[in-house]
Amino acid sequence: MNKMKLTLLAFTTLALTSSAAFALDDAGREALMKDSKCLKCHAVDKDKDGPSFKKTAAKYKGKADAEQKLYTHVTTGPKIKVDGEEEEHVKIKTTNEADIKAVVTWILAQ
Ligand code: HEC
Repeated sequence: MNKMKLTLLAFTTLALTSSAAFALDDAGREALMKDSKCLKCHAVDKDKDGPSFKKTAAKYKGKADAEQKLYTHVTTGPKIKVDGEEEEHVKIKTTNEADIKAVVTWILAQ
């Protein structure tokens, strides 16, 4: 193996292990959202039962408390309306703060 390849390998390993230690990578975030059924009612750029993530990102753009608001929204099960019926919004299926933040910041970045 030449030196260039070795350096590349070292960087890749570092990137993979460090992202896992702090928060979910993209695949992990997607799996968590799938597990929590978020995508049943939400899509990135079209409204389903819930607003598109792009719409939510636009609504909270520039708001300092955006992350906190969404964190509360996905962890406390507030009352929402689906097809005219009141129900509790689903709670995300994890209690890992860093993982929840990874989902929230991803939504806000859409
Ligand atoms: C049963 C359908 C349904 C599921 C499942 C669902 N949502 Fe929602 N969600 C809604 C509806 C409806 C609203 C709009 C609520 C309102 O505006 O009163 C909403 C609103 C939101 C908002 C915007 C909140 C705001 O303050 O504007 C976010 C962010 C969100 N959902 C994220 C998620 C995530 C993350 C998951 C998975 C953990 C999820 N949703 C699962 C239906 C759903």
